[in-house]
Amino acid sequence: MNILVLGSGGREHALAWKIKQSPLTDALYVSPGNAGTAAMAENIQLFEGIFDQHAFESIATFALSKHISLIIVGPEAPLVAGIKDYFDSRKDVSHITVVGPDKAGAMLEGSKDFAKDFMNRHRIPTAQSRTFVQAQLEEGLQYIDKQALPIVLKADGLAAGKGVIISETHEHARATLREMLNGKFGAASEKVVIEDYLKGIELSVFVLTDGKSYKILPEAKDYKRIGEGDTGPNTGGMGAITPVPFADGAFMQKVKAQVVEPTIRGLAADGINYRGFVFIGLMNVEGEPYVIEYNVRLGDPETEVIIPRIESDIVPLLHALGNQQLDQYTLVISPKTAATVVMVAEGYPDAYQKGRKITLDAGRTSALIFHAGTQSENNHTLTNGGRVMAVTGMADSMQAALDICYEGVQNIRWDGLYYRKDIGQDLLSL
Ligand code: AMP
Ligand code: GLY
Repeated sequence: MNILVLGSGGREHALAWKIKQSPLTDALYVSPGNAGTAAMAENIQLFEGIFDQHAFESIATFALSKHISLIIVGPEAPLVAGIKDYFDSRKDVSHITVVGPDKAGAMLEGSKDFAKDFMNRHRIPTAQSRTFVQAQLEEGLQYIDKQALPIVLKADGLAAGKGVIISETHEHARATLREMLNGKFGAASEKVVIEDYLKGIELSVFVLTDGKSYKILPEAKDYKRIGEGDTGPNTGGMGAITPVPFADGAFMQKVKAQVVEPTIRGLAADGINYRGFVFIGLMNVEGEPYVIEYNVRLGDPETEVIIPRIESDIVPLLHALGNQQLDQYTLVISPKTAATVVMVAEGYPDAYQKGRKITLDAGRTSALIFHAGTQSENNHTLTNGGRVMAVTGMADSMQAALDICYEGVQNIRWDGLYYRKDIGQDLLSL
């Protein structure tokens, strides 16, 4: 079958790498893709960043012309904007399986208030919270004063990963609430969720569902901060590891019973026809799972470690979402450990340069090299984003997987590259 992947990061390169291995795959297209996907699939520019009706039309026209049967949506933005609803609403393209929820399902990521309400109604463990709008500012300020510290404030809408602020003092929390409700994140902070702080260790659990049944994919831990020892500003993710050693059988059993099943049942009970990935950000609080957030896509760089551990062909599993036959397929996961180290441009996550020439000797490493922000131009590979490459190693132990990653990193060079040298160190010492 002919398949289209939407997106341009390491996540999409890893998905394309896996899909390419399937005997079911005929033509594979990535839009817009990067230099890594260009080398193994056909990159195609179908839209200019904004996901509006025009972009959806352009994707649908292309899909029809190339007889695409399966579209995998990498990032959340097209889902929140309603790409799935668009395909479902047009008779000539409604036969195409689009992996990802419709607009209603994408609200799990698109609105923190919606997600909290969903969890509370379906008794899914999460931090206690309240939501405030501008007209309730005074009430919100009084609420803050009664809460224990630290206290977490979250912009309701999508805020490019910057919308969560953890305040150590009531004064700071009050000032933050004012700023947010006064438009710090534009429309995204018209509503603010104020939530109790959860103390524990974070991990992410990924689920593929067709709305009726589900498969739990490998769980992963990502490293969000730019600096070693988890210091400095948040990034999209500087590395990831799977499996997560503290997510043992007993813990994962609780995740399944207390979080995954009520989530899938809750979506169905709410009439949400969810066919796609659910990314559940969890806090392990003394052995109990609490949901911090939902995303409606796979994580990046988590995908670069979970995909290599999937031994089954994923194409039939993804295609089965279309006719809700996921339960007909098995998912085999390798017991090995996979680690990834993300190489970023100097300056990231603040301003950084693009267009630096990359030298890469992939033949000299057994690591899997997934491109993120790269672009090919005149036979050169150039940097084209903050996160540039994700280098993945897989082995029988975490140390061996990390050794492969860091050896792989040595074969990639450009001016001003940076990566964290401590990925996995906290887990090795557990
Ligand atoms: P989010 O954008 O919801 O993923 O939040 C960003 C980060 O803030 C999370 O990955 C956590 O590290 C942290 N965080 C969010 N909510 C809480 C909470 N209730 N307690 C502690 N940390 C939190
Ligand atoms: N690595 C976190 C995310 O994809 O949201």
